[in-house]
Amino acid sequence: MATRVIPVDPFDLVVFGGTGDLARRKILPALYRRFCAGQIPKEANIIGAARTDFDEAGYRAFVRDAITELVPAVLCAGDAIAAFCNRVHYIKLDAREDDGWETLAQIINPDRIRAFYFSVRPELFADLAERLYRHGMASGETRIVVEKPFGHDLASACELNATLAHHFDETQIYRIDHYLGKETVQNLMAIRFANMLFEPLWNSQYVDHIQITVAETVGIAGRAEYYDRAGAMRDMMQNHMMQLLCLIAMEPPAKFEPGAVRDEKLKVIRALDDVAPEDIVRGQYDASSDKLGYLDDVGNANSTTESFIALKTGISNWRWAGTPFYLRTGKRLKARTSEIAVVFKDAPHSIFGADAGRHANILTIVLQPNEGIELGVTIKEPGPGGMRLIDVPLDMSFAETLGPEAELVPDAYERLIMDVIRGNQTLFMRGDEVEAAWRWTDPIIAQWQEKGEKPLRYESGSPGPEDALGLMYRDGRHWREIRE
Ligand code: BG6
Repeated sequence: MATRVIPVDPFDLVVFGGTGDLARRKILPALYRRFCAGQIPKEANIIGAARTDFDEAGYRAFVRDAITELVPAVLCAGDAIAAFCNRVHYIKLDAREDDGWETLAQIINPDRIRAFYFSVRPELFADLAERLYRHGMASGETRIVVEKPFGHDLASACELNATLAHHFDETQIYRIDHYLGKETVQNLMAIRFANMLFEPLWNSQYVDHIQITVAETVGIAGRAEYYDRAGAMRDMMQNHMMQLLCLIAMEPPAKFEPGAVRDEKLKVIRALDDVAPEDIVRGQYDASSDKLGYLDDVGNANSTTESFIALKTGISNWRWAGTPFYLRTGKRLKARTSEIAVVFKDAPHSIFGADAGRHANILTIVLQPNEGIELGVTIKEPGPGGMRLIDVPLDMSFAETLGPEAELVPDAYERLIMDVIRGNQTLFMRGDEVEAAWRWTDPIIAQWQEKGEKPLRYESGSPGPEDALGLMYRDGRHWREIRE
């Protein structure tokens, strides 16, 4: 399956925090892969900016090492890395000091697209915005890319939006949520809006419930300071999970373009029900035989931050009133798996009698690790012995469909960075969307903070606290198993 690549216009991209973990693991490899795909023109410049004392050769060696470690070997043959590194430059800068900024302003070409990627601590976003403006780099074809966390609560998100709006127009601001760049997440929209099959059934009349799981096996080691202030609610629920929920629940936008898509997502967030205390389960992972527990990972024996959260909510609109949405996410769980399951209602009447059991169709969109789509259908068990029913999957695994090219499917960051250069904001969050998401999140967090509630403990390698299972059992439903 050949992939179609449309080269973007020449650009200058400055990565603030260019020596940081995100730049190393995601941004630079993503740029390299787009370069190999022929999408990045040879005149483009990628400029790492950070406080580290690198010269250009030193930074290029850093970039080369990152690519060699993180990009499939098949893409690293010949002189591709050297050619890419020729496009890479470095400038030593501090967001809070004047040195270096004039030099940056001089090397940036004012006549082409300029993108500034804020891959730094959020406390520095305002300083970066201010300095870009002061040094004449905020106008024209300038775009800024802002990494999460976008605020810590509604007040801080509003403040950040206001600060950025001071120097940049909303059309220049790209708030990144890398979940929106995942291939299967985009496929979710294709499934919904390019097929006639599902849309007529996509409502509370036919859908019993929807469950979204993002389970991780990793802990929080290495990011303790950030994570202990955030917890699963802020780190995953307010952004990634919320975006998935929006895409699964939104009305069809009239066009696949930024305004239309983001308007529809915003309506979903605004229609989200408040979450009652009994509909939330928070957990913290315990130590396992070979790994530390959460409290040791953060080095804070009194931490009440959750590394797991499960909750039930609803959407009060004509399409979804009466259909519960169950969401859960956590660290150190049994397996790394992210999926959205749309569980349809049982057939209204079984002509095969009670013995045939109850069977519900389930459409599962697997985001990772084995990206694909599965539709569970009920069929007759083959062979003699009467009419016995079984559920079988109609399965579309991307890896199987694409074969060896699956490895070359663009990573979320590849798609999103190219969208920044192309000036397409469809897969980025608008300011009002982020604020609406915090408006829903804040009271939920306030509930447990007011009560000083502690999270429940759960075993590392388990599906999370037992009570999370209860959240669905008590409604006569159950979570899908967390498995590879
Ligand atoms: C990040 C969170 O935004 O997403 C991390 O801060 C989380 O805690 C990560 O591990 C998950 O991303 P992915 O693409 O690995 O599912």
